[in-house]
Amino acid sequence: SLLAIVLWIFSYLLGSISAAILVCRIFGFPDPRSTGSHNPGATNVLRVGNKFAAALTLIGDVAKGVAPIIIARELGLPESIAALCGFCAFLGHLYPVYFDFRGGKGVATAFGVLATLHWPSMLVIGGLWLLVFASTRISSLASITSFFLAPLIVLLFKAELFHPILVLSLMLLFRHRHNITQLVKGEEQSFRKTSQRD
Ligand code: G3P
Repeated sequence: SLLAIVLWIFSYLLGSISAAILVCRIFGFPDPRSTGSHNPGATNVLRVGNKFAAALTLIGDVAKGVAPIIIARELGLPESIAALCGFCAFLGHLYPVYFDFRGGKGVATAFGVLATLHWPSMLVIGGLWLLVFASTRISSLASITSFFLAPLIVLLFKAELFHPILVLSLMLLFRHRHNITQLVKGEEQSFRKTSQRD
């Protein structure tokens, strides 16, 4: 329907708004695209800014995945249309129209989408993220591990979400290709307190 198309476009435009870039501008921190990992995401805001700014970035980018799905549901659209709204927001975050289509890696927005579509899956995948981060202090490794397994976890708990979450996870992993190279070379930065590079 026309309403669905309008909502998909709205979701993409909403997803295109980068919380990291906005938060860093407001707080007067360097542009996250030109410092640290050069990624406009909560992890890099933690590097170039502080914990509070990173938390705000995380909340903003998660909300971009949550809001479009809730709005679609409130308007009485079927769950498949609502899920696609979440995916459009995720696409906007990865390839934002306002920032030369150079966006983030999608972890926070993907968690927002997952939390709204099927929160138990999100708890398992989010728990996995926390477990890997707590043991390695490497954000990208936590993201790569949890979204490598996300399609399988969704298949077990909510099989009808398998294909959409598979596509989303593959895109998210593709956006982490530089992190994967760095991890293989053993050069990926950790947030370990003892590290000189933090
Ligand atoms: O949120 C993205 C995270 O998985 C990696 O971020 O800045 O370390 O490339 P970054």
